[in-house]
Amino acid sequence: MNPNQALWEKGDFTRIAASMRDSGEELVSRLGITKGLKVLDLGCGDGTTAVPAARLGADVLGVDIASNLVEAGNRRAREEGLANLSFQQGDASELHELDDKTFDLVVSIFGAMFAPRPSDVAKEMVRVTRPGGRIVMGNWIPGDPTLVAQILKISSAYSPPPPEGFVSPMTWGINDDVVERFAAAGVPEDKISFARDTFVFNAPVSPSEYLALFKSYYGPTMNAFEAAEANGRGDDLLRELDALFNAQNQSPNNDATSIPATFLRVAVEV
Ligand SMILES: C[S@@+](CC[C@H](N)C(=O)[O-])C[C@H]1O[C@@H](n2cnc3c(N)ncnc32)[C@H](O)[C@@H]1O
Repeated sequence: MNPNQALWEKGDFTRIAASMRDSGEELVSRLGITKGLKVLDLGCGDGTTAVPAARLGADVLGVDIASNLVEAGNRRAREEGLANLSFQQGDASELHELDDKTFDLVVSIFGAMFAPRPSDVAKEMVRVTRPGGRIVMGNWIPGDPTLVAQILKISSAYSPPPPEGFVSPMTWGINDDVVERFAAAGVPEDKISFARDTFVFNAPVSPSEYLALFKSYYGPTMNAFEAAEANGRGDDLLRELDALFNAQNQSPNNDATSIPATFLRVAVEV
């Protein structure tokens, strides 16, 4: 199986996505979505951004590599009675099932950044956007001191080195790399803008219990624990991540977690 697909079908990302609903909805409310807008949500998971976009009246297609998340997304669309929202399986590096110039808005919030071959991903996003349309990406930033960049940094110290030629997803958080990828897809630099933005993870459990969800259900963290445990270092990884989650928590309530994380918002005019 495609290793990228296997990584994201491992565990159950819906358990983490449940803590991302507030910020997903808030972010979508700032995207200028109008009734009938044709939106593609790439690497959509179970619909953190696709569902609120559809609630605002857009015609939304969610595409994700993980079949369990596509299924979960379609279930949410059915439960909410959103006939203008559907999910299907696909790979952001190779969207052969989607026609050229189809979407007014392509959104990818912490999604397409995880696909292999980033230059192909940029080309595919540009190809399926209609001229005059927009692409909006949310990408984690390498070296950033907030939660997700730190989880990935700590985890990598316990994991085997990536295969030869692997391009880190975190490079999507570097302006120059983003410009280079979209330039190769035919978009000039002055059509690309960047802003720092914040996404808040909210969960009705303590930070240590919230970390336990990552350990049991978030593919990248599950893999890090498997690698650490194979080397007798599972407890060290748990201690480091537990300190991180507790230090980043801003909830005044001991039984709740609220952790803001900084990301790079990229907007591209096609
Ligand atoms: C961190 S999750 C974010 C999900 C969703 N955007 C959200 O905010 O809840 C990353 C998502 O990207 C998807 N993904 C990873 N590689 C992909 C690829 N090559 N093509 C499409 N989706 C991919 C994963 O399956 C997963 O749903």
